[in-house]
Order: sequence, then structure tokens, then C-alpha cells
Amino acid sequence: MCGIVGFTGPQQAAPVLLEGLKRLEYRGYDSAGIAVESGGKIRTEKCSGYLENLVKMTDGGKAIPGNCGIGHTRWATHGAPTVTNAHPHISNDGHFAVVHNGIIENYAQLREELTAKGFIFYSETDTEVVVHLLDMYYTGDLKRAVMKTVARLEGSYALGVLCDEKPGELIAVKNASPLILGVGAGENFFASDVTALIGHTRTVIYLEDGEFASLTPDKITVYDPAGREISKPLSQVMWNTEAAEKGGYEHFMLKEIMEQPRALKATIEPRVKNGEIVLEGFQFGSDQLKEINQIVITACGSAYHAGYVGRYIMEELCRIPTRAELASELRYSKPIIDERTLLIVISQSGETADTIAALKECKSLGARTLAIVNVVGSTVAKLADSVLYTWAGPEIAVATTKGYTTQIAVLELLAVYIARQLGRLEDKRYKQLVRGICALPERCQRAIDLNRRVEKLAGKHYKKTSLFYIGRNLDYAVAMEASLKLKEISYAHSEAYAAGELKHGTIALIDENQLVVALACYNALFDKLVSNVKEVKARGAQVLALARESQRRIFAEADQVLLVPETDELLMPIPEIVPLQLFAYYVAKAKGCDIDKPKNLAKSVTVE
Ligand code: AGP
Repeated sequence: MCGIVGFTGPQQAAPVLLEGLKRLEYRGYDSAGIAVESGGKIRTEKCSGYLENLVKMTDGGKAIPGNCGIGHTRWATHGAPTVTNAHPHISNDGHFAVVHNGIIENYAQLREELTAKGFIFYSETDTEVVVHLLDMYYTGDLKRAVMKTVARLEGSYALGVLCDEKPGELIAVKNASPLILGVGAGENFFASDVTALIGHTRTVIYLEDGEFASLTPDKITVYDPAGREISKPLSQVMWNTEAAEKGGYEHFMLKEIMEQPRALKATIEPRVKNGEIVLEGFQFGSDQLKEINQIVITACGSAYHAGYVGRYIMEELCRIPTRAELASELRYSKPIIDERTLLIVISQSGETADTIAALKECKSLGARTLAIVNVVGSTVAKLADSVLYTWAGPEIAVATTKGYTTQIAVLELLAVYIARQLGRLEDKRYKQLVRGICALPERCQRAIDLNRRVEKLAGKHYKKTSLFYIGRNLDYAVAMEASLKLKEISYAHSEAYAAGELKHGTIALIDENQLVVALACYNALFDKLVSNVKEVKARGAQVLALARESQRRIFAEADQVLLVPETDELLMPIPEIVPLQLFAYYVAKAKGCDIDKPKNLAKSVTVE
């Protein structure tokens, strides 16, 4: 996510802003900038890449005098990570500077309106509309201009505003994105989170959505959405910096598991308007889709597992032959691919060497390519014909969680969209699936609420040296991801197995020492899965089963049960994987493993 900071006080602002942005680096970013007001003028410096570039450009901030300013680290969502797209954004007349964390969902209409009124846009960002609205509404009363501006915005925003006619004053606005005020002695601050504040003050004010504040060196005035002054309690931050970076969670992985409802909301909501799926960035019209005679999904690791979920959903809904291929295999397999192939490339980082190579190979064979990536402007995103971003925000833990579930959400949206475009989905079923997808953040949250129960189960099984995850159809695809999560952070051996395949040899390994995790959420094959559970139990295995909340019959079959919040059959993978992510997490924690940085692993495998 982007990070924003603001300072006003007796110190030089630039060094304070740069230090605050440094504290926010862990949030992930690809460009940065600061703006400082001095003598009624605003000076701005921005860079692409790392903050170090900005520190060098400004001689550690010394080159930009002034006591009041704002700063930003940008995680690109709209527009590549360039200097022009970096924040702060400046009004055409130079009177205003704005930093923003969040997504202005109605920016396109606002941009059109403002352009028609003569405002000149320089960036590709959604944020730039804010600074021109301020300019348009400002008649000397900054508070009123801010209120009128915010009244036009839809979406999520934490805003920092600087105006050259209001020396020493900052405005901070909060709506759905985090923003905290720091209360100092003769100086005041705002920031996206406490890590940027606790070096200066531990006394903070937490703003609620819709509230905004005016900050001067000696005073903070907080207003409610109607502009009425309100009093707010002062809070004391007890976290140390490391804990603050993880939002109070012990590990980034747990933080990112807990962030999944918000990540899913950010990925899904902008793509469903009035009950219709809208896929900006997907450039294939229905005529082109009708020419497609096969869909190949390719990726590595967890992205491949997400793709494996997608292949079942795509094939069932679109009725186009669909397969998922490991990128490291596909690139060397002389694949039969041509211009009638839709290649879907999935990658959280967008920099995985095997995935890039497979994409290049298939492009050279004529495939039409669509990327599903989390990092804007990454190599995979640039190479593909079309891109659908997962707006999961930066993922710090090596083991992906929100990256994986948001990839599945995009695949579900895409499958329903294509099936509709091809006239292969009748209206009732389309509406049912769209409603189900929109409800996934809430289902995911309910799955997260199994947290304590999962922790207890992990406590019972963390010493197991070998586990089997079995499932059929979508459950088998989820089993792959569950098994990888356990292996990569707890170093326990496990295997994902198609439940119907066990009897063809592998069941010879099953005995009383094995824990078998049976995924039984795919209702159509529930009875078949139960017979597999009986098979392994007959050989002494302990069975932990996951089933839909309504499938109470599972209690008669398994030793332990986790009931998963249910949704449409095709949408079960997202709520189903969450307790299995948590299971892997708590097993690894019980074993004292380095959860965020597992041995031998890298967050992005940029080598073959
Ligand atoms: C997942 O937890 C692993 N870190 C790994 O399998 C990862 O999914 C794989 O390397 C692909 O990475 P990408 O999504 O960035 O391409």
C-alpha cells in the first residue's frame, strides 16, 4: 500500500518527512516524493524507485527549506511507477500539493469533467483529480474547499493536503484507508501508520472514516464529515517499531492472512458495477473470444495453484478446453499453441523467470496473452497484451496468502465474464455468481474467524513429519496450495493428492502415523470423498476434514472437522484455503520456524 506522512513544526520538514517515509518502506513502494511549503511557495521533489534516490536528490532534505510538508511512498495501482505518477501531485497553479493512499473509484468521470473545465492532467493516476478539485473549489477557505472536494470522491482515501496560502497548516482526511495523527510538543504529524510517528511521539489520534483534521504546529482541530469541530481522545502507542510494521501481528504472514477480506474487496469491488462485471484492461471483445479454442493458464508455485483452481471454473463455465501448466514445464514442452489460444499468466511479483519465459514462448507462437499480477508495471504486466491487476497491496511474507486468494478472485470474475460474453451463462446463474463473488470478502472474514480453533488443531499435529492433503476437483486444487503452505514455512513434508488416485499406489504409505487432511467442500463429489476418508481411516490414519457448514455428515466420518463458511460450489476455494493457511502458520509457529523468511526461499524467483 502507499504510505503518507505530514509534518508541521519548528524543525526543517524535509528531513522529518524522509525519515518518516523510510519507516514506511516495509509497506512496499516503487516511487516516492515530498512537498514542502516555505515563504508561501511549495517545492516538490519526486523519484521513481527507492527512497534513497530522493534522499540523494535533496541532500537528505537539506536542499528543501521549510517547516511544513507532506511525503508519499507510492505502490502503483493506476499508472506505472514513474516520476510523473509519483506523489505529491500539484495543482496547475502550484497552490496545492496532495498525497493519497487508496483508490478513487470515480476518477475517470472526474478527470473528464475537470479536463473539460480546462484543468491539465500530467499523470495517469486517480489521485491527480483531488488536487484539481481543490483548486476548483478553493476561494480562500481551505476547510470548505476540502469538504467540497471530498464530497465528490468515491472510494478509499487517506489524503494529505498542503496549500501555499496557508503556511504551517496541513489538512489530513481519512476514508477507508489508514491515517493517524501524531501529537507532539509544538509540532504535529500525520502518517499512514504508527511506525512513522513513534520516533517523534507516542501520543496519537485515530481518525474515523469521514473525519478530517487541520494541523498547525500548536494545534490539531478535528472535524466530523459535516465540518463540525469534534473532540477526540489521545491514545498512547505501546508498540515497538517492528511490531508496528506488522500492524501489531507477530508476522507479516499472519497480517496478510488477516488482510485478505480487504484485499479481496479492493480487487473485486471496482470490477462489479450495478451487478455487472466490468473488466477494464481486458481487451478481448466477444468476437475475439469466440475465436479462442483453448485456454492455457501458466504460472509457478502458488500462482500455479490459483491457476489450477481457475482451470476447473473456466472449463465448467466457458466450455472452452482449459488446462493449467507449470511455467517451468510449458516453456520447454514445444506446446501446441497458436493465435486461437488464450494464455493466462499469473504472477504475484510479475518477475518470476520461468513465468516470463513461458509467456515469451507462447507469445512467439501467436497466443493472445492476459496477465494477472499484483505489481503494476512488472515485467509480466508489460509483456502481456492485457493485464488484470490484483489490488492486494504489497505482500511482504515469502509465503503468499492474499496474493493467491486475490488471483483466484480475478479468475472467478474472468470466467463468469467470458462465459457471459459467449452467451454460455444464463442470467439467473450469472447474477448468482456475481453476488457470490461480491460476498467473498465477508466469507473470507468468517473463515478467518476459525482462527482460534485452527490454532488448537495445529497444536495437536505440529509434530507430524508427514501429512497428506486429499481432495477432488476444486478441493484437489486447494489441497495443492495447502500442502505447499505447510512445506514452505514449517518444513514438514506433505503431499497433495487427488483423492481418487490414492488407491493406485500411494495409499501404501498410509498408516497410523499419518495425518490426512481431507478437503470435502466440493459438494458434487462429497460422497466419493467420504469413501476415500473411509479408505485411509481403515488403514489407521487420523483424518482432519474440511467441509461446508451444512455438511454435518462429515462429523461421523472424520476425527476432527473444520466447517468452512459456505458459498457457491465454484467459489468455495477462497473460504476453504484460509483455515489451511492458518494451519500452516500455527504449525510453523509451534515449531519455531522463521515464518516470514523461510530457509532457501525468495519472495520472487527471478532466476531459472
Ligand atoms: C508461494 O507461497 C511461494 N512463495 C512461491 O511458490 C510463489 O508462489 C512462486 O514463486 C510464484 O511467484 P509469483 O507469483 O511472484 O510469480
